[in-house]
Amino acid sequence: MASLLPILLLTAFLSSKPALCYINPGATPPQKIGTKSSGGRATYIVFVEPPPPLGHGDGEDDHRRWHESFLPLSELAGSDDEPRLVHSYTEAVSGFAARLTGGELDAVSKKPGFVRAIPDRTLQLMTTHTPEFLGLRKDAGLWRDSGYGKGVIVGVLDTGIDSSHPSFDDRGVPPPPARWKGSCRDTDARCNNKLIGVKSFIPGDNDTSDGVGHGTHTASTAAGNFVDGAAVNGLGVGTAAGIAPGAHIAMYRVCTVEGCTESALLGGIDEAIKDGVDVLSISLGSSFAADYDKDPLAIGAFSAVSKGIVVVCAAGNNGPAFATLSNEAPWMVTVAASSVDRRFSAPTRLGDGRVIDGEALDQASNSSGKAYPLSYSKEQAGLCEIADTGDIKGKIVLCKLEGSPPTVVDNIKRGGAAGVVLINTDLLGYTTILRDYGSDVVQVTVADGARMIEYAGSRNPVATITFKNRTVLGVRPAPTLAAFSSRGPSFLNVGILKPDIMAPGLNILAAWPSSVARTDAAAARPSFNVISGTSMATPHVSGVAALVKSVHPDWSPAAIKSAILTTSDEVDNTGGPILDEQHNKTMLFGPFNTGAGHVNPTRAADPGLVYDIGVAEYAGFLCTLVGEYVLPIIVRNSSLQSCRDLPRVGQSHLNYPSITVELEKTPFTVNRTVTNVGPAESTYTANVTLAAEASLKLSVSPETLVFSKAGEKKTFAVTVSGRFTKAAQAVAVLEGSLRWVSPEHVVRSPVVLYIPVASAPPSPPMPAVGTRRGDNWA
Ligand SMILES: *[C@@H]1O[C@H](CO)[C@@H](O)[C@H](O)[C@H]1NC(C)=O
Ligand SMILES: *[C@@H]1O[C@H](CO)[C@@H](O)[C@H](O)[C@H]1NC(C)=O
Ligand SMILES: *[C@@H]1O[C@H](CO)[C@@H](O)[C@H](O)[C@H]1NC(C)=O
Ligand SMILES: *[C@@H]1O[C@H](CO)[C@@H](O)[C@H](O)[C@H]1NC(C)=O
Ligand SMILES: *[C@@H]1O[C@H](CO)[C@@H](O)[C@H](O)[C@H]1NC(C)=O
Ligand SMILES: *[C@@H]1O[C@H](CO)[C@@H](O)[C@H](O)[C@H]1NC(C)=O
Ligand SMILES: *[C@@H]1O[C@H](CO)[C@@H](O)[C@H](O)[C@H]1NC(C)=O
Repeated sequence: MASLLPILLLTAFLSSKPALCYINPGATPPQKIGTKSSGGRATYIVFVEPPPPLGHGDGEDDHRRWHESFLPLSELAGSDDEPRLVHSYTEAVSGFAARLTGGELDAVSKKPGFVRAIPDRTLQLMTTHTPEFLGLRKDAGLWRDSGYGKGVIVGVLDTGIDSSHPSFDDRGVPPPPARWKGSCRDTDARCNNKLIGVKSFIPGDNDTSDGVGHGTHTASTAAGNFVDGAAVNGLGVGTAAGIAPGAHIAMYRVCTVEGCTESALLGGIDEAIKDGVDVLSISLGSSFAADYDKDPLAIGAFSAVSKGIVVVCAAGNNGPAFATLSNEAPWMVTVAASSVDRRFSAPTRLGDGRVIDGEALDQASNSSGKAYPLSYSKEQAGLCEIADTGDIKGKIVLCKLEGSPPTVVDNIKRGGAAGVVLINTDLLGYTTILRDYGSDVVQVTVADGARMIEYAGSRNPVATITFKNRTVLGVRPAPTLAAFSSRGPSFLNVGILKPDIMAPGLNILAAWPSSVARTDAAAARPSFNVISGTSMATPHVSGVAALVKSVHPDWSPAAIKSAILTTSDEVDNTGGPILDEQHNKTMLFGPFNTGAGHVNPTRAADPGLVYDIGVAEYAGFLCTLVGEYVLPIIVRNSSLQSCRDLPRVGQSHLNYPSITVELEKTPFTVNRTVTNVGPAESTYTANVTLAAEASLKLSVSPETLVFSKAGEKKTFAVTVSGRFTKAAQAVAVLEGSLRWVSPEHVVRSPVVLYIPVASAPPSPPMPAVGTRRGDNWA
């Protein structure tokens, strides 16, 4: 058992707990082993068969007694040891979490009804403006039509929540629906019609007040109420709101500053299913590729989805390397992170008159407006780490942070520098992850850094930084892909396009507990913070799912996902293709980076057609991908026990709203079925495109779909035909799209074709080299 996970949280702040402030995607993350205790015990998640139908108590008691029957006698004898049974699950999985020695685990595994045990792993956590950027307007459009997400419950699995924050006031929010079973019992949390459930799943620690900040930030992004006068250091001033400000929030605390154990995570999912949430927002993940039958998060998510809950997960922060995704199961919505069109502008004027526009999160500066000599140490490769040793007094130091901790900036300031211009690391390119470095520090892109380095080589270079306290909106191009956003292709199912969708995740302003220190004492109330990660992108999509669910309460999780994917934007605010962190076109490998595109809430509520998927089809998919033995572990449905009775569903053939095919030969056909959720009588015409590669052809049959009633289903076939030319084999992957077009709707699916390479297996060019996860740990 060696379970160690890179930290996924990517933050742009100096918190009081530097352990989580992992900001350099290129560095080796700290390693931390298991959850062993002094008694040689470790926590295991033990999967067992469902309880025999003998009990007389309620379901939970039956489960608990059944689970206890697997444990060593000392537990029952009531020894004063720590409790062995950590969680007894009833909904998310059939099984429990317990603390056991190796010998005890052996004994447990010999009992009838035992299925398998896996060691508990620790997973890591991965505004004022984003609703507007996504086209949501007060008293108009989708916000008005959905009552801001009225009647929908968003469950957030995270670090807890600052319940006193005004983002969680319930002004204008009606009581929760009668079906809601959750509560705030056993916590100090202030609950109301906005925050309707709070519970901790950390053994022995029921403090839910969020000592990290992450959970408060993500919950307020998904469904925080309107708060006027939100700002960070006086920047970005405006009205803060979540994406579904009328929805209810339930917080399940499954993470601490050290991360999130899978046993706690399953406890949270279990409770959320019982409580009756509609959407689960999961801004955390593993960067290990565990097979689905050994991945508690994937299994718990399956249970949630089969109960009608939309499960939205972070794609991970291990970009820009290729094939670095987390949470790639087809029943999840996997979210990539993008930039927004806002900058906290801090321009630097060079002695030659050029102005370089950087950004700063703290603009309360003394150096502002004065010219100082500009210092760049070419000999030291411009590294900040070394810059503080030179003669820097009264100078503006231009340097690259690269792998060093952000505290080197303090050393430079202590050395008497008048200011610091920090250049993004090469891998970040244009992705400037803002961090509150205190006063007199500006962050610039690699391209702007290069211009400044060139100028610093001239005679007597000088620079003037102006902190204008200016928040600039309408920045172009936006959105762009954030450098840290994990990239596809999917490791476990290469024939399912992942990530699914892209949403704002760079420099997101949202609620922050006033008790969690930012850099200085300026902890304003209410307090907000700007942080970055796919953790921040995830609750944007959870909020959109809540809005869609509010207007279409009967849609399945797969239908809601389809609506979000097929209506997304494929162009940025310049009208061109969405660019990556180097401002290159993401065209060739675009879908592996951005999924279907950038989320568009208004269109998502009215997609015209949806690609739906039921439990039986997912089960058929698992039969084909893994085998029959996973049905009792993952699917757990008495009417779906044998693969023989299920449709054979290869990866490309799952009724997914995108099409990904690993071609071996042509012609190759996939069938898809769409359901009419638009006007009863509507006619759609197919439009297919494929990247310039004349030798292969995409065709659709039939080319026209005529619907006469709501809910009507139509099946069509998409065929790839033609030859694999050398040119096609050289690119290895071809991108295209399928659009169903009616006068009111365009239903777009990305199409990705892997072309077999003549001899060697396909090895597409990569933006950077990443080491793919360790092997399985079971
Ligand atoms: C936390 O749990 C303990 C033990 O069950 C209980 O005594 C305490 O009141 C709980 N704390 C809160 C804030 O509910
Ligand atoms: C920045 O400007 C806003 C209003 O434009 C103001 O409220 C805030 O105090 C200013 N912040 C600083 C640090 O000057
Ligand atoms: C900047 O201002 C702060 C507070 O006004 C002061 O403590 C600090 O010494 C000043 N720094 C410089 C470099 O002048
Ligand atoms: C991407 O952009 C960088 C710099 O902006 C450039 O050096 C590189 O060649 C580009 N890569 C591709 C594949 O176009
Ligand atoms: C079990 O599978 C059947 C057949 O697909 C489905 O109708 C039913 O909803 C499933 N039950 C659960 C609890 O998922
Ligand atoms: C697609 O549908 C057609 C017509 O129903 C059927 O003949 C064919 O076998 C299907 N193909 C696949 C791959 O499912
Ligand atoms: C298909 O869609 C593309 C992209 O929107 C468009 O340029 C083209 O004109 C369309 N073709 C037809 C036949 O409608």
